[in-house]
Formats: sequence, structure tokens, C-alpha cells
Amino acid sequence: MTVFKHTPRILIADDDPSVCEALEMILQEQGNYHIVTATSGREAWKKLQDHAIDVALLDLMFEDLSGLDILSRAQKNHLSTEIILITGKGSIETAVEAMRLGAFDYLTKPVDDQEIMRVLKHALEKRALVDRNRALETQLAGLSRYEGLLGKSPVMQQLYRTLDAVAPTDASVFITGESGTGKELTAQAIHNKSRRAQKPFVAVNCAALPANILESELFGHVRGAFTGAIRDRAGYFEQADGGTLFLDEITEMPIELQAKLLRVLETRAFRRVGGQKEMQVDVRIIAATNQPAAAAIEKRRLREDLYYRLAVIEIELPPLRRRREDIPIIAQAFLKTFSDVLNKPVESISARAMQRLMEYTWPGNVRELRNAIERAVILCRSNQIELEDLPPSLQPDEKSVSTPAASDHDDFLMVPLGTPLAEVERQVILRTLQKWKNNKTHTARVLGISLKTLHNKLSRYQGR
Ligand SMILES: Nc1ncnc2c1ncn2[C@@H]1O[C@H](COP(=O)(O)OP(=O)(O)OP(=O)(O)O)[C@@H](O)[C@H]1O
Ligand SMILES: [Mg+2]
Repeated sequence: MTVFKHTPRILIADDDPSVCEALEMILQEQGNYHIVTATSGREAWKKLQDHAIDVALLDLMFEDLSGLDILSRAQKNHLSTEIILITGKGSIETAVEAMRLGAFDYLTKPVDDQEIMRVLKHALEKRALVDRNRALETQLAGLSRYEGLLGKSPVMQQLYRTLDAVAPTDASVFITGESGTGKELTAQAIHNKSRRAQKPFVAVNCAALPANILESELFGHVRGAFTGAIRDRAGYFEQADGGTLFLDEITEMPIELQAKLLRVLETRAFRRVGGQKEMQVDVRIIAATNQPAAAAIEKRRLREDLYYRLAVIEIELPPLRRRREDIPIIAQAFLKTFSDVLNKPVESISARAMQRLMEYTWPGNVRELRNAIERAVILCRSNQIELEDLPPSLQPDEKSVSTPAASDHDDFLMVPLGTPLAEVERQVILRTLQKWKNNKTHTARVLGISLKTLHNKLSRYQGR
């Protein structure tokens, strides 16, 4: 299930730590809150951005960044936090200014316990209301897609709502889900819906690079840092400045590098490999893995402290077999895509083929479905995809395949007269390949061509 953590997240910010502590105690006595504190204006602003705060209790007077400054920044960045300002010197003008800038309310010191709880409760109610409205809007729209994501099932609707709520914040997001469930698409959707949309989205596959290279790819290096480092080079962190860095397959990152990454996330500062200069960047982190976080931590593939840092918001993508009602929508959408791309007028999916698509377990999830439809559009000989056009893994078991009708269908190619020879050749090759269950050696042999020729032709078909 998609989760959006529900314990209300409250920020308490006052330059006097003892005031923070006192307020924290009042709140903790009255209810269950996730409390974050800050003792300077800058720290408060940073935490507001990073922690998906529901309500902030902000002191008006900070030396570095005033409560009003923070308030106007929050408005400008469309943070959905409700802000309550607190000040020692209550003046009508400041109160008016605060309300004009969009503060939820305004309290004067010394604050009364009951008064604070009353205002806080109202602010949380307003937050819940706004969330609910947003949810309703999405629900009413009955979205069957969201950015690149497809699906209309309740779990997907819930996902879209979560993404709507999370995208505008700077909170780190940790995405889990089986292979092919759309983790990268989800990361991209969050980026596209955020204020960072115009800045880079940099995706790094932590599994694709050896440990030492990964480090310099992430943080960059200076000339001479190692053999082959012939010039200074910026890493992904710098490239993603102002935007989003997507760390895919985070559990494949060597554990020592995870420790380094954690430090960088905590201090927001790093050095290029071999470099002296401290660099600072403004990057939102989204991480993903296809194994459950708890298992990865257990197996020591993921540092627990790093996980907590990354999983301010955790999103678990459902496997396709848990949302079968989405299969027709997704299959139709891909059918449209591939019939356009391949310039083949295939419009529908036969009832038998659709039934099979609905029954199958889809271990490779949406990616596998996408590939199946692409292949079917290529193989299809009419304007409708038939059961036989689906990949071997979806074919009914041996007995039924060997019925005379099915094998007839397998062995003959019917093309209208006047079909270009290249197209006839393509269909003969692909159908033969299908018949031999993708065994290329066999296919090449029966067609009387070399394996190399077969490979060349296949890659040409794929590149079309
Ligand atoms: N909900 C979805 N709607 C539309 N397309 C999807 C969806 N989920 C996945 N896809 C498609 O499936 C393919 C794989 O998606 P993506 O790369 O996001 O998966 P992933 O979860 O990152 O997989 P892996 O763990 O294997 O990297 C892409 O082609 C993407 O377009
Ligand atoms: Mg991926």
C-alpha cells in the first residue's frame, strides 16, 4: 500500500532552545505528534522544506531569517504547511502583516497551553480539510493516468493523491516496488510536479557502476585524483543542483559509500574526490529499490540510518497482479503507442487475448505488459491482437497449443498481395521466432540464414 505518514508533523522554531523544549513538552503531553525543532530561521526554513511539515510554530524574531521571511518563502514555494507565528512583542501591524502573508494564526508570548493547543488543533483540521479536498478533486477526476503513470484502480488513485501531496515539498522519498512497477516513472512524476520541474532530473543506477567509479560519478573528482582523472569533473550531485537526484537500486550502493552519502545528506556539503573545496548543492533526493527496505536492512544491503534519512515519505508501488483492473487500460494505452510508433493500424485486443492478459501473473509487471503489447503489435496480422500474438509465456500450455487449428495458424502466414517483400520477410522471421519460443539458433537454422543475419534483422526491427 502507498503510505503517507499520518502522525502530524509539527515544526517548533525558536532561537531559545528552552522555549522549543517547553512547547514540545506541551504538545507531547496532549497528543501524538512527530516533532521537529529548529533554533534559527535558516534551520527552520530548511526543515520546513525537508520534512513535509503539517503545522509550524514559528518565532517571529530570528536574527538570520525572520518568521515573516519564512512565511513569505513558504507561500512562494507553495508549501502546504500551516504556519502559526509566535512573538514576544505583539504588535497589531506585525499581526496584520503575518495574516496578510498567509499565516494561519498569530500568538503572543507568553503563550497559554490551552490557547496553543486550540490553535494547533484548528490548523491541523484545516490541513486535513485541504488534503481531503485535494483527494476529492483527484478522485472526482477519476484519473486514469498521472504524468506517465497509467492506471485507475483504487491503489493508483491513492498513489496519485500521495504524489500530489508530496511533490511540492522537498522531502526525501523512498520508493519500493517490484521490478517494472514504475519506480523511475514515479520519481520523474514527483520531479515534474515539483517546483524543481525546470531544473535537471538526474537518474543514477547504483547497480550499474563499480564502487570506486560510483563515488566519483556522484561527487565528481579533481584532476589527478586517480589514474585517468585528466581534468576536474562535476558529479551527479552538482549536475542535479536545483533539481532532483534519483538514486536507483540504492541497496546496490556499497555500504561504505552509503555512510558517505548519509554524511552529505546531513551536512548538505561534500568534496569532489581528491578535492579540498566544500561544495554545497540544493538537491532533492529520491531513492528506490526493488526489495522491501526491512529485508535490505536485515541483509546489510542498506544502512538503517540512511534509510530513515531517505524515507521521510515512503511509497510502495503495487505489483500489477494486485491491480488487475488496470490491465485493459494499460494494454490499450500501449496498443495505441505502438501502433503509432510502428505505423501499423492495430486497434483492438480480442476477447481471448484480453482474458489471458487479465489472468497472467505478470512477474515483470508493467514493463512486461508493455513488451508483450509491443511484440503483439509487431506480430499481429490484422487490426486486432489475437491470443497467438502474445508471448510464449502467456500461451496456454502445450496440449492446447498443439490442437490442429492453433498449429495451422502457427505455420501459415497470410498477407495481402502487394505486401512489400521486406514486410513479408519481417513477418516470416518474427513468426518463426515466436514459433520456436524465441530460440534464435533454431530460427536461423530453419530459415536458412546465419545467426548473425538474424540478429541484424531483429535489431533493425527493434530500431524502427
Ligand atoms: N504505472 C505505469 N504506467 C505506465 N507505464 C508504466 C507503469 N509502470 C511501469 N511502466 C513502464 O514500465 C517500464 C518500467 O518502468 P520503470 O523503469 O519506472 O520501472 P522500475 O520500477 O524502475 O523497474 P526496475 O526495478 O526494473 O528498474 C517503463 O517502460 C514504464 O514506461
Ligand atoms: Mg528502475
